[in-house]
Amino acid sequence: MDIAWIRGQIPGLKHGVYLNTAGIGLSPVSVNKAVAEGYQQLRSGSVSTSDWYTAMRAAEAELPARIAAFFGAEAGEIALTMSTGEGYGMVLGGLRWQPGDEVLITNEEHPVPLQAAQGLADREGAIVKVVEIDQDKDLFLHRVEQTITPRTRLICFSHVTTDWGTRLPAREICGLARARGIFTLWDGCQAVGQFPVDLHEIGGDFYATNGYKWLLSPMGTGFLYVRKGAQQFLKPLRQPHAPDGTARQYETGTPASVLYLGLGAGLDFLAGIGGPQPIAAEAGRKAESLRERLDAIPGVRIIGSRRAETRTCIVAFSIEGMDGNEVSDALRNRWQIAQRATNINAPSGVRISVAFYTSDSELDTLVEAVTTLAGEKGNP
Ligand SMILES: Cc1ncc(COP(=O)(O)O)c(C=O)c1O
Repeated sequence: MDIAWIRGQIPGLKHGVYLNTAGIGLSPVSVNKAVAEGYQQLRSGSVSTSDWYTAMRAAEAELPARIAAFFGAEAGEIALTMSTGEGYGMVLGGLRWQPGDEVLITNEEHPVPLQAAQGLADREGAIVKVVEIDQDKDLFLHRVEQTITPRTRLICFSHVTTDWGTRLPAREICGLARARGIFTLWDGCQAVGQFPVDLHEIGGDFYATNGYKWLLSPMGTGFLYVRKGAQQFLKPLRQPHAPDGTARQYETGTPASVLYLGLGAGLDFLAGIGGPQPIAAEAGRKAESLRERLDAIPGVRIIGSRRAETRTCIVAFSIEGMDGNEVSDALRNRWQIAQRATNINAPSGVRISVAFYTSDSELDTLVEAVTTLAGEKGNP
C-alpha cells in the first residue's frame, strides 16, 4: 500500500498528528470533490433544480447495490440513512413491543445507541439489561447466554465498542440469538471500513452504521441493513410512498442525495486502494506495534483488548496518576495530537485510532509524548 500517495490524497492530514478516525475519518479529495461539485451544480444554476434532483436520485438509487456488494448483502436489504442513530430509530420504532420485553445492551455503548434503548424502555416499558464485556470472547458469550430469558426480544450491541475498541463476537451472538428467536441489531460504525464486514456471514437481522468514520465519507450519510427475512417483522415508520419490497421502504424523508455522492466516492476510494482486507492488514500491523510500544512505557497500561480475537485498531491506554481527560488535553495542546479521552468505564484513558493512512512518524510522536507525560508523573 502506497501510504505516501494515500496521505497526499487526504488534505486533513496536513494538520498535526491525526489519531481520531474513530471520531471522524478524514475524507480523500475525491469525496470532497463529489460533494462540492454536486452542490455547486445546484447553486450555480447550471442545471435546473428538477434535472439536478433527478440526476441525484438516479445516482443515489445505485448506492444500495454498491453498499451491499461491499458488505456482503443484497441491494434490497440496504436502506440509506443519515446516521447510526437514525438506523436505531427505524428498528426500535418499527418492531412491535410488549411491556416487559427484554433488550440486551453492553456496558460500553455509545450514548446514541444507549439513549435509543433507554427511549424504548420509556415508551414501551421494555426492560434494558446490561451485559458486561470481557476481552475473552468465550467468557462474554457465556455472560450473554446467562442473561437471556424467555422474555429476551432483542440483542443490540456495538460490533466494535466506541471507547476501548473491543470487537464483539458478532457471528456467534447472532447464532445464539437466532436459535432462540431473538432479533439482533448491531451498531457497526466502528467496524465498517476498519476490517472486512460480511453481513450475511454475521447472520444478524439489523445492522446500522454511518459513513463519517472509517468509511471516510460525509457526515449525514449511513445505512441500515435489514435482513430480507426480517423485513416482514419491521414496520416502516411512515407509510412508504413507494413500497417496493426492499429496505428502502424504511427511509423516512427526502434524503441528502448529494452527500451520498460522497459516500459512493468513499467506497470507491477504499476499493481503489485494495479494499477491506489490505486496509485491515495495514492498520492492524501498525496498531499491534503501537500496543507493544505503549506497553513498554513505565506507568502506561493498555486498557483495551490485547487478544487477537477481540482487539482492533482502536488502542486505548491509561497513564498511572492521570485522568484520561488530562492526558487527552496534554496530547492535543502540547503535541497537536488529535485523539479523545475514554470515559464510559474506569479507568479513564485515551483512545487512539490507528488507520491504514496513519504514518510511522505520527506514532513515534505519540509514543514520545506519552513517555514524557508518564515520566512527568513520576513513573520510573
Ligand atoms: C459505537 C458508536 N455508535 C454510534 C456513534 C454515533 O452514531 P451516529 O452519529 O452515526 O448516530 C458513535 C460515534 O462516535 C460510535 O462510536
